[in-house]
Amino acid sequence: MPTIRYVTSGCAVDFADGDDVNMLRVAIRNECHVPYRCASGNCGTDRVHVEDGHENLSAPRRRERERLGDLLDDGWRLACQTYVSGDCSVTWDPDQTALDERATDRSLPDAVNERLARRWLSAEDTD
Ligand code: FES
Repeated sequence: MPTIRYVTSGCAVDFADGDDVNMLRVAIRNECHVPYRCASGNCGTDRVHVEDGHENLSAPRRRERERLGDLLDDGWRLACQTYVSGDCSVTWDPDQTALDERATDRSLPDAVNERLARRWLSAEDTD
């Protein structure tokens, strides 16, 4: 059974063989405390450094490439844009904020997070 290790928060989450799971969604569901804001590849708040298991991650798509730029080549990924199919380990700065503040709504940060968390914790939303 593959495992995502969220090293910074000391969290390790197993998932079923053959599954492709969203790294941020798994973190939210298991209270692994990866910072996030938009969950749509715009802000960059949820960037994680991949310590191990690059080969088990989905290939970066255009939005992630545009947001991360050179950070991508240095081993960073956006958890909300990354799907995991095998073992991996990631770290991050617990205090990190958005790469692009213009992509976030500063007036409603908690409400945005709560709404996303509710959606991703809901029983109907399974992927
Ligand atoms: S949470 Fe905003 S880019 Fe992933």
